[in-house]
Amino acid sequence: MSDPTWEAVDAYIGDLLVNEDDDLRAVHEANAAGGLPAIDVAPNQGKFLHLLARIAGARTVLEIGTLGGYSTIWLARAVGPQGRVVTLEFAPHHAEVARANLERAGVGDRVEVRVGRAIDTLPTVEADGVGPFDLVFIDADKKGTAEYVRWAVRLGRPGTVVVLDNAIWDGAVADRDSTDPDALGVRAGLEVMAQDPRLDATAIQTVGVKGWDGFALAVVT
Ligand code: SAH
Ligand code: DHB
Ligand code: MG
Repeated sequence: MSDPTWEAVDAYIGDLLVNEDDDLRAVHEANAAGGLPAIDVAPNQGKFLHLLARIAGARTVLEIGTLGGYSTIWLARAVGPQGRVVTLEFAPHHAEVARANLERAGVGDRVEVRVGRAIDTLPTVEADGVGPFDLVFIDADKKGTAEYVRWAVRLGRPGTVVVLDNAIWDGAVADRDSTDPDALGVRAGLEVMAQDPRLDATAIQTVGVKGWDGFALAVVT
């Protein structure tokens, strides 16, 4: 569900406050040319993630769900040249498009794309001792959300920021009758945020070019 007035406001915000540069614009073109779905975060959302990472002073970021690396570039710019982003992607073709996009944007040297199911690559990230991560952005398959929230705590430290995309899922997350496996997956992730005493969380609804959705935000205590 989208709405022309929501899209007009996103365009207004994009022009006024975000101003995507050529490297970010090129991601949309390369993703479309490569047949990737246009489900990356919106420009104003990418900037939002970037600002959250800067506010947190993040130097190490874990992203679960790379696609073409659009959100990855926003996060990589936030950690600076000495920072590290590890981003996990299941589809080899998505990872290949992402690597080219990251190189073009000049952040290839600070980003590692790990290919595989996140549930399989997360233990390798732990084994390699890359963390603890200052910020974790969860944006992969929605059915895995609860496990990804648990991994964010495991690979974080007190103060780690956890951001979950698609936390509202067209309102389905609060629909007690929903049988949509994605909605149930997101809800399970929110329930982990509610129940795990090491997390303090909220969620914010959003409307815009991506319709009605939102972010959940948590801090590891
Ligand atoms: N964060 C990206 C969008 C990610 S879209 C951006 O805003 O630019 C979700 C991505 O998660 C897709 O590329 C999909 O292939 C990937 N994905 C799906 N299931 C996955 C899994 N089990 N492990 C890792 N990645 C997965
Ligand atoms: C879908 C996935 C996303 O991460 C998103 O932000 C929007 C849509 C999807 O799978 O449809
Ligand atoms: Mg998403």
